Amino acid sequence: MRLIPLLITLFISGSIFGQPFSLPELSHPYDAYGVIDSKTMEIHHSKHHQGYVNKLNKAVLKEGLEKKALVDLMLYASYRSKAVRNNAGGHYNHTLFWELLNPSKVKASDEQVLKTQKSKLYKEILNQYGSLDNLKMELNKAAATRFGSGWAWLVVTPEKKLAVTSSPNQDNPIMDVSEVRGIPVLGIDVWEHAYYLKYQNKRGDYLSAIWSILDWSVVANKYNLALTDPLLKTIEKEHWPELMHFHKVLAQTFHPAEKGNYNPIRDRSGELFAKAILLNTSAIPKPLLSPDISLALIKLEKQCGSLDKCIRKNAKDKIVSKKIVLVHDTFHEIQGMCHDNK
Ligand SMILES: [Fe+2]
Repeated sequence: MRLIPLLITLFISGSIFGQPFSLPELSHPYDAYGVIDSKTMEIHHSKHHQGYVNKLNKAVLKEGLEKKALVDLMLYASYRSKAVRNNAGGHYNHTLFWELLNPSKVKASDEQVLKTQKSKLYKEILNQYGSLDNLKMELNKAAATRFGSGWAWLVVTPEKKLAVTSSPNQDNPIMDVSEVRGIPVLGIDVWEHAYYLKYQNKRGDYLSAIWSILDWSVVANKYNLALTDPLLKTIEKEHWPELMHFHKVLAQTFHPAEKGNYNPIRDRSGELFAKAILLNTSAIPKPLLSPDISLALIKLEKQCGSLDKCIRKNAKDKIVSKKIVLVHDTFHEIQGMCHDNK
């Protein structure tokens, strides 16, 4: 008798067809969440989250990334397609959000819950924010001021400190596109689909209400796990904003040049050179420090300078092409030293 519901679940989640990702079950029925109405929970989980899972599966299969772990898809978000970046984030963010919501959490104050946990989280909250209420205010502020759709986060940074931040769309602090990096231990969905049916445009009311079902014992467990997660080291190694900024301009100029359109690089060679100088003078992430990477950065700056000089002298496309290929090769040399697992 139980086989049929199981088969239906497997069919819906895609697991029966060996799809890489599947929709997690909620811990409670849709109508049990109180401050979030049943219809919102149902649509949010079975339509929106399911939609991210379906689109992620489709995108990774199409792009040959189906063997990659979810975390690797996110870490290198700036190198991924929009479909992979948005839907990997959508799947990860919502999975975390559901775990945090517990309408049958113990009937004690959040402070009491944290004090009784075998976690250093409460001590760290008091250290950094003075009180749990102050931290909640910071989170509410981050959520309320996030323009448009996005998420508010409490993260553990590579320095093992807490940080409050927010991100647009389905981005999150694991991604290399995020200015504040770390492992999220708490995330609040501030897309309208999370609250609009009950709260309409009153995001503030939704944010006040959500705390009554947010389970801090789950946050405390996640904090303990995050402190020893090797992902923190990886994020520290990958957090190099100047490399990301250089890559952005290179991608927007090199790829058109590959197709014979040299206008973008002719317009922006000075900007590319400036980004290379900034990169060469930036702080190299500690785990990457080596003579090889320092030499490669010097080489990259020289090559960008030479490219800019020849463009300013109106060099032919053939010469520009040769020089930008050299820049691109050196960038990949540096990138190879950074990303072992991309
Ligand atoms: Fe959502």
